[in-house]
Amino acid sequence: MTTRREFLQWLVSATLVTSAGIASALPLRLFRDSKNRILGEITISVADYPELQTVFGSVILEIDGLPSADQCAGQSKIVVTRLSNDQFAAVSARCTHAGCCVSPYDAQQGFINCSCHGSRFTAEGQVIQGPATEPLKQYGTNFDGTLLTITIPGLVNVPEADFPTSTAILNVSPNPNRGTVTVQFSLAHPEPIELSIFSIDGRQVHRLLRSEFNSGLHGVPLQFNLPPGTYFLRLSTASGTVQDVAITVQP
Ligand code: FES
Repeated sequence: MTTRREFLQWLVSATLVTSAGIASALPLRLFRDSKNRILGEITISVADYPELQTVFGSVILEIDGLPSADQCAGQSKIVVTRLSNDQFAAVSARCTHAGCCVSPYDAQQGFINCSCHGSRFTAEGQVIQGPATEPLKQYGTNFDGTLLTITIPGLVNVPEADFPTSTAILNVSPNPNRGTVTVQFSLAHPEPIELSIFSIDGRQVHRLLRSEFNSGLHGVPLQFNLPPGTYFLRLSTASGTVQDVAITVQP
């Protein structure tokens, strides 16, 4: 079982890793402008994004409501890169190798990098270097000189009023299951979380996930190999939320 001391140590190290990530200056912006989004489409004012003022400038936008197949590690992110004065590329940040989140386009290096296993992509998502073999998912763009419209099939409209104000497990599906589930949860704030499975007598029998997530709705596919029986899936967060949901593993 993870002791409180171990968990606090993990939170400290996770926070340090997160801080280091921010210090490395990956441009990440949260897009929560319900006025400028409709089903399947968002519009941004390019003037609001300093990163996009220069050719090959690039930014990662986090957009609630991205289809789960386009999400990377449970996060709804896309990479937007300026290709010329009047052209932009927008691609999913989900690496097609194993689903990690890629970095923004690096103008000096000349590629979008996936730090998990070293795949590299052009600003438009084409593979430069494997192990990925498939391009990043590309979204349509239209720039009118001021506003950039990005077409994202399957994007769900999430009114600002509906953004989560609480942190909770919303659903575990299927349940009962045979060791493959999707856990849907909401986070009121960006923070490190842990998802683990505990036996009914309170022993941690499997740690599923430790990662930092942004605020919003998330759906994370998870796999585990446990004997049939009843367990508790536990969500623990850095800010102290602990929630257990009973799950049943079938033979
Ligand atoms: S997940 Fe990106 S290279 Fe493996």
